[in-house]
Amino acid sequence: MFQTEWEARRKLVEEALPVELKAGGALDDTLAASMMYSLMAGGKRLRPVLLMAAADAAGGHGEDFLTTACAMEMIHTYSLIHDDLPAMDNDDYRRGKLTNHKVYGAGMALLAGDGLLTLAFEVILRQTGVSEKTRLEVAREFAVAAGPAGMVGGQAIDLVSEGQRIDRATLRKMHLGKTGALFRAAIRAGAILAGAAPDTLAALTAYADAFGLAFQITDDILDVVGDADQIGKPVGSDEKNQKSTYVTLTSLEEAKRLARQAVDEAVAALAPLGDEARFLRELAEFLISRQQ
Ligand code: IPE
Ligand code: IPE
Ligand code: MG
Ligand code: MG
Ligand code: MG
Repeated sequence: MFQTEWEARRKLVEEALPVELKAGGALDDTLAASMMYSLMAGGKRLRPVLLMAAADAAGGHGEDFLTTACAMEMIHTYSLIHDDLPAMDNDDYRRGKLTNHKVYGAGMALLAGDGLLTLAFEVILRQTGVSEKTRLEVAREFAVAAGPAGMVGGQAIDLVSEGQRIDRATLRKMHLGKTGALFRAAIRAGAILAGAAPDTLAALTAYADAFGLAFQITDDILDVVGDADQIGKPVGSDEKNQKSTYVTLTSLEEAKRLARQAVDEAVAALAPLGDEARFLRELAEFLISRQQ
């Protein structure tokens, strides 16, 4: 049931993304093609769907915030393009297709990522139906989440931890940064745009942090036991790069237990919310069984 809702919203995102991208008006055709290639290569569109679901849970109407949801997907796609670069994880496949740098070269892939990141902030400012103050608040959420205190910071811990044995606290910090931060920003942005009351925003933030952790633990698990065709990216990338993950630091079984625990925490965080948070509850439960 929730899969149907997800699919409907995913479709809205698929339709809106190229429109927002074209409105950005890239000066160079190869740059435009490179940005479009990764943005439209598929993907679950989980963060934009979560942004809209959080707005619903906060008493708003998620689809009103499709513009900001597209901006979030641009930032996420940029993070994937850079994550796959030879100087980072050096992966050849993403979303079932060749990675950006394999098609356009590392230089253009860097620029496509830069372009998507910066364009995202212009897109946020195009969001209609909310006050200037709210738009700025959302822009700040996205900036903090994408930057050194968030995704980029987590990616840096990931990079310097290659081949090292890090402790559990550092691993948690890395996951909450590289993956959790964008989920947190997506969910908080949806809530803020919908004018969430402070306690609703707090509940959704707690949900987002637990969700983000559970999501990256399952990503670590799928890197070991997943099916490359289904996940659309190589299996064994973490082992190849001697990454520190929940699987390498604990065990497959323990990683599964910790993912379950984080999902339970996410669902528990929604206790103050009623049926309007049903989609978010079902999505968290789905994480445990996800195959892609
Ligand atoms: C992959 O994210 C990167 C991680 C944070 C683990 P997704 O699994 O959401 O990737 P897409 O967007 O569906 O390709
Ligand atoms: C990186 O984590 C998440 C990002 C910030 C892009 P991974 O390196 O594990 O992501 P995948 O497995 O390549 O999608
Ligand atoms: Mg990585
Ligand atoms: Mg990677
Ligand atoms: Mg991974």
